[in-house]
Amino acid sequence: ATYSSKIHENFIQCMSTEFNAYTKSFQTIFTPQSPLYSYILQSSKQNLRWLNSTSKPHLIITPFHESEIQAVILCSKKQGFQVRVRSGGHDYEGLSFLCKTPFIIIDLVNLRGIEIDIEDETAWVQTGATLGELYYAIAKRSIVHGFPAGLCPTVGVGGHFTGGGFGILLRKYGLAADNVIDAYLIDVNGRILDRQGMGEDLFWAIRGGGGASFGIILSWKIKLIRVPPTVTVFTVPKTIEQGATKLVHRWQYIAGKLHEDLFIRIVIQNVGGESTSNKKTVEASFNSLFLGGIDRLITLMNDSFPELGLVPENCTEMSWIESTVYFAGFQKGSPLEVLLDKTQLYKAKFKAKSDFVTEPIPEFGLEGIWERFLEEGLVFMIMDPFGGRMNEIPESHIPFPHREGNLYNIQYLVKWDEDEARATHKHVNWIKMLYRYMKPYVSRSPRAAYLNYRDLDLGINKHANTSYSEARDWGMKYFKGNFKRLVQVKSKVDSENFFRSEQSIPSIHT
Ligand code: FDA
Repeated sequence: ATYSSKIHENFIQCMSTEFNAYTKSFQTIFTPQSPLYSYILQSSKQNLRWLNSTSKPHLIITPFHESEIQAVILCSKKQGFQVRVRSGGHDYEGLSFLCKTPFIIIDLVNLRGIEIDIEDETAWVQTGATLGELYYAIAKRSIVHGFPAGLCPTVGVGGHFTGGGFGILLRKYGLAADNVIDAYLIDVNGRILDRQGMGEDLFWAIRGGGGASFGIILSWKIKLIRVPPTVTVFTVPKTIEQGATKLVHRWQYIAGKLHEDLFIRIVIQNVGGESTSNKKTVEASFNSLFLGGIDRLITLMNDSFPELGLVPENCTEMSWIESTVYFAGFQKGSPLEVLLDKTQLYKAKFKAKSDFVTEPIPEFGLEGIWERFLEEGLVFMIMDPFGGRMNEIPESHIPFPHREGNLYNIQYLVKWDEDEARATHKHVNWIKMLYRYMKPYVSRSPRAAYLNYRDLDLGINKHANTSYSEARDWGMKYFKGNFKRLVQVKSKVDSENFFRSEQSIPSIHT
């Protein structure tokens, strides 16, 4: 204990005397002895798989001021600590709060300011803010503006935007990262840089390449998008017995070609089985946002997807902000303030994987998925259609490369409650088996994956600085041809590879 308190003392002294960190720091540094340490460490862990992890940071810093972050970087370098930065804590593999070597967490929970400029149709968002806080702040100022990002309101804008970020507005407006127009970042030398200061290469890299390899992003400037005052939502569930297979099969041909105002995703899960009269089956929920009213929606659906049999009674008109509450899964009539609630609806132990589909999966292929779903407990498969705006943006525009040619993205998820390692093993094995089964039906060379659905099974950096060819294994899956440019940027801006993790971009010395 004396040894570790000495380390803490030295570190805190380094921050205050050598780097003049803002005086509030003393209330924002938590050592393992601090009464609030555990609470802060656990509070935003999203994947409960890591709740009892033995990987504990030497310190947690919750800065109010950027000078504290600058000091943490410089003192960590000096004293040989790694740094993990956490925004919303939703990283699937816990990379924002787990580390195998001595480390410090910078938790951005106190840096969540949002400034909206409606005249200019832009906003500055600090990276500790959540998606829910951003949506709520926009809606307070205007009912005809919104932002295209993810569905879960507790996701942090820090990790989400830097990994791409998509949701219900994807087909019309692209990714969150496509709509970032400036940013402030602290680099490995503690310098604060905006877009002009960091240059176009680094600004390119942090929009989809995973910011944690490059520095600490303080805030994003985003372009707001326009939404109509009234939008329409629907959710139509169909079980296998109700013809789900044919409908999912058909959906693959049309979902990416629909009018840009129409987004229909599918959430597949197994249901029933609680009693003999309630047989276990698989259900596909057609879950949609339309940027307009019911009448136009029904006309469009009759033209392009009559098989679903959508009728006005399935549909509800509402404002865009109400639709964010709907897609977040809250009860009808919930106040908009639920968007600000940081207690996560979906906290669970889980493992996820992702794929991109470029050719429709044949019906027998889908039936094989259903069979596997019926063997497991709580499992989901979310199919998000691409097309529209996504087809217009070149693959190399930002590091996220999954554009034209992709029909849809799949996310597979398995959740469980049990604590035992054996149970974890069983569930993780199930999802690996499903992933192997899917191989003939999804993208290949590379079999692409989405960075924000991080999956360490794709490959990890085994040494402090992995070689290009080793990292290429997983790097090509997330970034395709953009991986090379990410390595070049990394090698230039962080040649010593200070900002590193199991899946950070390697720095190559030439
Ligand atoms: P977290 O804080 O864990 O950060 C994730 C990564 O980014 C870490 O490597 C971290 O170090 C780094 N990072 C965070 N802040 C940084 C900063 N300021 N500077 C540099 N690096 C930083 N995705 C999606 O596209 N659409 C969706 O609808 C959803 N929905 C969804 C629901 C739920 C329940 C979960 C758990 C996840 C999603 N996601 C998602 C995935 C989500 O986009 C992804 O996990 C993000 O990386 C989460 O960002 P956070 O800031 O919350 O995570």
